[in-house]
Amino acid sequence: MPNTIVSAPITPKKVQRLYDFLSPIYEHLTRNEKLSKEKGLQVADIKRGFIALEVGFGTGQIVIELALRVGKDGKVYGIDISPKMLDKTRKKIKKHALTGRVDLQLGDARKLPYKEAVFDVIFNSYMLDLIDTPDISKVLVEFKRVLKPRGRLVLVSLSKGESWYSNMKLYEWIYSKCPSLLGGCRPVLIRSFLEELGFQNVKRKFLMAGWIIPVEIVWGDKPK
Ligand SMILES: C[S@@+](CC[C@H](N)C(=O)[O-])C[C@H]1O[C@@H](n2cnc3c(N)ncnc32)[C@H](O)[C@@H]1O
Repeated sequence: MPNTIVSAPITPKKVQRLYDFLSPIYEHLTRNEKLSKEKGLQVADIKRGFIALEVGFGTGQIVIELALRVGKDGKVYGIDISPKMLDKTRKKIKKHALTGRVDLQLGDARKLPYKEAVFDVIFNSYMLDLIDTPDISKVLVEFKRVLKPRGRLVLVSLSKGESWYSNMKLYEWIYSKCPSLLGGCRPVLIRSFLEELGFQNVKRKFLMAGWIIPVEIVWGDKPK
């Protein structure tokens, strides 16, 4: 499949404003993404005691899942570029009485504020589809830097297939006219990026969200 990804002209500042604006309604808009995130969590293979990171956590549904899975001996870190998403997720964590095992902060995936080799697993869903193509490698290099050797990276993204119903040509045309209308997200194909960066055991699974939207789950392990 040709790795053609349209450019993402939306700046980080615009992404931040857009997701601040979407934060109150985001969960209602994205109900059809539930299955893809559940499958992503399955391949993440979270164990008790793990130190996990979610980048671009949005309204925090996965942060909660991660916190429950790592247990009281583990820890979950999260970073998001949107102050309103951070606020919303912090409240949710408090409501679930998980504050002690979750550490959230504001920041940009292009420059992570963590030391090298800290995390057993990194989970990232529906964020790389917002990142402009030259910066995708930059973000993935950061993910690799902060993962422990043998740590696992799991990426769930809007994607595309080759058949007429999954090639996303119409979607990409609408995106080229007004990216914000589509939450700033365009389809991406990430597997080859991971292979080029030397991740091991790289795998990809395609599925459809809400019958019509192609999604890919790509995962791989940092070498020893
Ligand atoms: C489409 S939402 C996905 C939210 C969540 N991961 C989910 O699947 O429900 C994208 C999220 O990534 C955040 N985001 C976008 N670009 C980012 C960046 N460069 N660094 C950190 N977070 C970013 C947005 O603020 C937003 O919360």
